[in-house]
Amino acid sequence: MRKIALVLLTAVSLAAQHEATDAKYTKTDIGIGNRLYIANCIYCHGPEGDQISGVDFTHGKFPRSRSDDDIVKIIRDGIPGTGMPAQKMEEPQIRTIVAYLRSLPASAGQALPAGADVARGKVLFQGKGQCTNCHRAQGAGSYFGPDLSDIGMLRRAVELDQSLSDPNAVIMPPNRMFRAVAADGAAIPGRILNQDTFTVQLIDSKERLLSFQRSALKEFSPINTSPMPSYKDRLSAAERADLVAYLLSLKGIQP
Ligand code: HEC
Ligand code: HEC
Repeated sequence: MRKIALVLLTAVSLAAQHEATDAKYTKTDIGIGNRLYIANCIYCHGPEGDQISGVDFTHGKFPRSRSDDDIVKIIRDGIPGTGMPAQKMEEPQIRTIVAYLRSLPASAGQALPAGADVARGKVLFQGKGQCTNCHRAQGAGSYFGPDLSDIGMLRRAVELDQSLSDPNAVIMPPNRMFRAVAADGAAIPGRILNQDTFTVQLIDSKERLLSFQRSALKEFSPINTSPMPSYKDRLSAAERADLVAYLLSLKGIQP
């Protein structure tokens, strides 16, 4: 009797879970969805998905939808008569966004530890962490890596912490590095600043602006790993939390 009750309970809770997620998503789906969300949705919904009143993706608040299919439909068609625009995307792309939205509650509790300190994070950013060797923030630092001056408006604490511990996990398409191999065989890694059909301009790690004729290059290809080192062992967890607190405080250059 008891056993049957247990089995029944499990079946019911599985069914409930099924209702909430409809499908199991892979880490790759979630990663792609994360990038699409940042590019297309963050402007209105915010990094935590709670910027529109009544809707809160991180806490599973979807007043107008129940199943994943409902959410797909809303993203594809928009909600007429409201500020929610239809998105010009194929269904597989939309599904990855749903995967990302469904993954948010699991990391909702991973906010910053209580002691994390913006001022200490800033000191680490400019000093021990050597972040300014590659990044700019608020007008100071290098142009080699992405400018982080408004990163606090674009990313969540968990995502920033992941960038520090595992820089290769998610690389935003505009941040991808490229490798240019000149006729003499010299390989130069850098970030694309400009490109057209015939030329491409890169900025290298020494902040040199380099311009190439595409036809003169032996190779020009994306690099799939980040030049950024992992700070998992270089900094303590408390130091990383201070850095994340500082990064979250970066919301555009203050006049
Ligand atoms: C221009 C602003 C804007 C953009 C861009 C935008 N949304 Fe929305 N979205 C809204 C507004 C406003 C609502 C609330 C509409 C209402 O219910 O009144 C909404 C509602 C939603 C809902 C409904 C939640 C529910 O069940 O009630 C989902 C899901 C959603 N948006 C997902 C997305 C996704 C994913 C993207 C990016 C691909 C996106 N939105 C881009 C403004 C926007
Ligand atoms: C050797 C150069 C280098 C150093 C040092 C470095 N970074 Fe990076 N970082 C990069 C590059 C290049 C990227 C873009 C590719 C990627 O996402 O990994 C990046 C990406 C990032 C991102 C993700 C940006 C986004 O748009 O999501 C964050 C956050 C970041 N770095 C923070 C830091 C902090 C904080 C430090 C210091 C503790 C640091 N980086 C040190 C080169 C560097």
